[in-house]
Amino acid sequence: GLKVVIIGGGSSYTPEIIDGMIKRHSQFPVSEIVLVDINEGARKLEIVANLAKRMIEYTGAPIQLRYTKNRREALQGADFVTTQIRVGGLKARALDERIPLKHGMIGQETNGAGGIFKAFRTIPILLEIAGDIHEICPNAWLVNFTNPAGIVTEAVMKHSQHQKVIGVCNIPYNMRSGIGEIFDVSVDRVMIEFVGLNHFVFGKRVFIDGVDQTDEAMRHLIYDDLNYSPANIVSLPWNKNFLQSLNMLPNPYHQYYFQHAEVLKKDLQAYKENGTRAEVVMEVEKKLFEKYKNPKLKEKPQELEERGGAYYSESACSLMASIYNNSMDIQTVNTLNKGSIPDLPSEAVIEVNSVISASGPIPLAIGPLPDTISGSIIQLKKFEQLVIDAAVTGDYKKAYASIIMNPLVTSDENAQLVLDELLQAHKPYLPQF
Ligand code: NAD
Ligand code: G6P
Ligand code: MN
Ligand code: MN
Repeated sequence: GLKVVIIGGGSSYTPEIIDGMIKRHSQFPVSEIVLVDINEGARKLEIVANLAKRMIEYTGAPIQLRYTKNRREALQGADFVTTQIRVGGLKARALDERIPLKHGMIGQETNGAGGIFKAFRTIPILLEIAGDIHEICPNAWLVNFTNPAGIVTEAVMKHSQHQKVIGVCNIPYNMRSGIGEIFDVSVDRVMIEFVGLNHFVFGKRVFIDGVDQTDEAMRHLIYDDLNYSPANIVSLPWNKNFLQSLNMLPNPYHQYYFQHAEVLKKDLQAYKENGTRAEVVMEVEKKLFEKYKNPKLKEKPQELEERGGAYYSESACSLMASIYNNSMDIQTVNTLNKGSIPDLPSEAVIEVNSVISASGPIPLAIGPLPDTISGSIIQLKKFEQLVIDAAVTGDYKKAYASIIMNPLVTSDENAQLVLDELLQAHKPYLPQF
């Protein structure tokens, strides 16, 4: 039978992916799911596993589910492995957010200095996991959801023997779904030609039922209430001239780069009122886990929508189902460029529409980057590669190089300050430095 292993199984998002697998059971007949977590997550793991069991039982799907702290044992015979871990937990995230903010810079879990340190903590662990997969279940696909998802996926491709790895994010799906609502069509009728990197992707063209509707989509974004921001990002209105000159759909994370001052102001204000996003999420989690504990709950609860990653299971589950069925449909994933964007190296990971086959994603050709965005995409990719290099070597100079090249880090002095402070704050999770 088909076996799926979920690493970071204690995540409050797990009911999403369970729901996704139950719904798709006729096309993706999973017979065994194993949730894996560590000591720190043991309590959450147990609660989530019990809810997952009730969800499965309620629908009568023929799936066996169990949970364990023994990752290597869990991986035996796996066909798919998903990773959704948070090294150091939400406490570490709060530091990633607070320390840059304190020095007047964006403090964010996947962007700026905070995102760099999330990568430093995460990459060594993902390399261990990929190593285990390569040894124990070498044919399994690793579907990585762990942030910063694009950087982590490229790190695994570059530094592990296991090459069957794909990164996923919910943003491309959210953008399609937002367009679908505005045009009043179901999401499967919407195709967006994406170009760029994870959390730095643009929607170059929009098609409804195969007809180019980019101009109409841009009009909705400029004049109407088209908004596809997830719960974790302050959503400010876009500048009209910005949109008109770009003539592409920005993604919500672009606000950090192109509306830097306004977003920083809003973030500082939100921080004063509610603390960091990590602290807000801690509260949301408390509420969610109280719900999860209720034996009467047998479905994924509505409140999951308060998390930024809501609907990620749409991307993760349809990806696994299409690999399994060799569907050859088109999905947006983080995978090797292979010439799709000639301005970037072939071995760079990009977020790109790909044909999903049993042997993995085949990226569609995008062609040369438009002049308006090529500079920023090339800079961000180079930056990401510096981060990977620093994460695997633990070299201080490389870490500095990555941090100073990030557009959200505003001066050499600030780079030094946050680098040293974050290195110190995260010491227990950064054995390589
Ligand atoms: P979380 O804090 O609930 O962590 C999930 C689980 O991972 C916890 O139960 C924790 O104990 C466990 N864990 C930590 N280290 C582990 C390890 N070495 N092995 C196994 N389990 C481990 O986090 P969350 O909010 O559910 O998010 C999980 C991850 O998914 C984060 O990295 C987050 O950034 C990412 N995420 C990605 C997207 C996306 O679009 N790609 C969207 C939302 C969240
Ligand atoms: C977004 C992103 C994720 C991000 C998350 C944060 O939509 O795509 O990559 O990490 O949501 O959500 P949270 O609820 O944890 O702040
Ligand atoms: Mn099997
Ligand atoms: Mn994401």
